[in-house]
Amino acid sequence: MKNKVDLNIDDSKIELNLVKGSENEIGLDISSLRTESNMITLDPGYKNTGSCKSKITFLDGEKGILRYRGYSIEELAEKANFLEVAFLLIFGELPNQTQLNKFLIDIKENSIIDEDIKRILESFPKSAHPMGILSSLTSALIAFNPEKKISLDNKQNGDQDYMYNSIVKLLAKVPILVAWVHRRRKGLPLDYGDNNLGYVENITKMMFQLPNQDYVNNKIIIDAMNKLLILHADHEQNCSTSTVRIVGSSEASLFASVAAGISALWGRLHGGANQAVLEMLEAIKKDGGDTKKFMLKAKDKSDPFRLMGFGHRVYKNFDPRAKIIKVTANKILNELGISDPILEIAKGLEKEALKDSYFVERKLYPNVDFYSGIIYKALEIPNEMFTVMFALGRLPGWVAHWREMRLNNEPIGRPRQIYTGETLRKFLEMGLR
Ligand code: ACO
Repeated sequence: MKNKVDLNIDDSKIELNLVKGSENEIGLDISSLRTESNMITLDPGYKNTGSCKSKITFLDGEKGILRYRGYSIEELAEKANFLEVAFLLIFGELPNQTQLNKFLIDIKENSIIDEDIKRILESFPKSAHPMGILSSLTSALIAFNPEKKISLDNKQNGDQDYMYNSIVKLLAKVPILVAWVHRRRKGLPLDYGDNNLGYVENITKMMFQLPNQDYVNNKIIIDAMNKLLILHADHEQNCSTSTVRIVGSSEASLFASVAAGISALWGRLHGGANQAVLEMLEAIKKDGGDTKKFMLKAKDKSDPFRLMGFGHRVYKNFDPRAKIIKVTANKILNELGISDPILEIAKGLEKEALKDSYFVERKLYPNVDFYSGIIYKALEIPNEMFTVMFALGRLPGWVAHWREMRLNNEPIGRPRQIYTGETLRKFLEMGLR
């Protein structure tokens, strides 16, 4: 393959470099286009724009492949635990036992939250959405964990100690906030968990322990939590991760960048889809369970209804995470002895969509969020907490991208635009308008 291509514009020719990735993906480097031609590229929604080179996650949407640092998602979901995967994503290699122990100890040493944060949490109205609370509290943590002053020689950007401390603090404190948000909704007293437990075991205890009762971790629940968190841990340059990278590119702190990522995840076209899916399935059930009626609504262009949990910007074959989650949902419900009619409605919708030409032609398949809500529901996590659970899983991905971006000294993110507004006009005094 040539490593340059020619772009002909009228009578002039511009030579642009091609960039090849380790999995043979090819990108056209347009960074010299503007200086040589005064043109920019236009790609609303960045549907075909690479914003960076990254070594973290590879996905092939046509073949349904997802790998973290070269390891297949299927193998990680089967064999690893969430903390191992977090370490892998952030630092590039699977940890050995000593590295993993140290990582967990460093996280635990930071698992204290200022009491004032509790007061801020309590000041939110009971009806506030948990994602708004989580984003606000993550931002509020900055006030209690002040940043080192940025040195004039810009050393902080590549300062490994500064980054490591920020990372373990964030991985320690955000799960406590998640658990607290959940407990407050349930009217339970806030809890710091037990530092003798593993990372996911402690999160589970912090969320579910009832007052004055011993908490015994249930292996089925821990396995399900590990799987769900691993499957959500990273997904390369999605909306929230791009947000984290772009906020971080202004040298904003990790906490500030992740708080922005949480907000970006909230919308129902992204992480908020898991809540929207369950609400949709419950609405279909309440309506009598006629899946065909809702399929027609999803295809009707004059109806704003979309089949939530279907379709993906990148996956045009199947989402490998959805396959794993579907099997896991069946298994968890069986193991917990739950029979949920919503699972049957979901399977029915999927079956119909897979043979419907509208969905087949547009390559719309179930995504990661189509079956995840059914598992969260079985774990007695309320609908409005689903996207918070997604955020908990996505933390290592956001952290890994923020760190990579800093270590690469990437420039500030700042797209261009094609202006289509008014040209220069004269200001008219009030009486003349
Ligand atoms: N139901 C019905 N029609 C759909 C759906 C859907 N869920 N998704 C896409 N389409 C249709 C669109 O109407 C469009 O049709 P057209 O070509 O006739 O106009 C076509 O498929 C392409 O859709 P776009 O919106 O252009 O695709 P895009 O890549 O921009 O959007 C997205 C991807 C946002 C995920 C979309 O498929 C969607 O809204 N899905 C439902 C929400 C959802 O599940 N989001 C979670 C994604 S996974 C995640 O972020 C964790």
